[in-house]
Amino acid sequence: MTAARDPLRRLKDDTADLHREAELHVRILDADATLTDYRRYLAAMLGYHAPLEDRLGAHAGLLAVGFAAAERRKSPMLVADLGVLGEDPSTVPRCAALPSTASLASALGVAYVLEGSTLGGRYILAKLPPALTVLRGRATAFLAGYGPDTGARWRAFAAVVTRVVSTTEAEAEAVLAARATFTRLIDWLAPRTRAAGQALREAS
Ligand code: HEM
Repeated sequence: MTAARDPLRRLKDDTADLHREAELHVRILDADATLTDYRRYLAAMLGYHAPLEDRLGAHAGLLAVGFAAAERRKSPMLVADLGVLGEDPSTVPRCAALPSTASLASALGVAYVLEGSTLGGRYILAKLPPALTVLRGRATAFLAGYGPDTGARWRAFAAVVTRVVSTTEAEAEAVLAARATFTRLIDWLAPRTRAAGQALREAS
């Protein structure tokens, strides 16, 4: 007897190494993280999320299977947070090296990373270091994600993935896309967050 297919388990297990790597590039939980680190993090995340959300929002396949990506954009939250911190979001560079969303399975793999990160956001929000706790409730819309609806929205997304990613081939495609989403995010974040923060500290 073969075990029941569990694409979400596969997505989680087969991207765990890259999740750990991504965490290294998010400086905002370090004990000495500064407001500058936080601003850089938000700007880098906006530069990655905005163009990727444009793609997912316009994906007819996703809509057809009941996933309204346009209603799940996190970039307006990033724009709001940056605005509170006095940053002009329109000047933030946008990432052009995005993962492919051509097939439905790959679009769901990409969406897995953006949706799953709302689960981690709540954890990060609760663990902010001293210099950043004053921002809670003021400039933390992105980390708060869907707030009290986070669990329900994640389960709704998970139900779509479980229903649609129903073959070995589709599962492999979704995993590949999720891995590419993490890898490209890491490549995008690396020069913009930790390295930049370190350079600043070393210079001071
Ligand atoms: C300091 C940085 C980060 C920390 C501490 C962190 C922490 C966490 C935690 C605690 C969870 C599990 C939450 C739960 O199951 O209720 C989680 C899930 C997740 N995070 Fe992160 N995260 C970080 C950065 C990121 C980034 C940058 C991304 C990509 C945009 C990301 C994507 C995900 C995904 C996809 C999941 C869902 C895993 C699953 O259950 O399948 N995380 N994170």
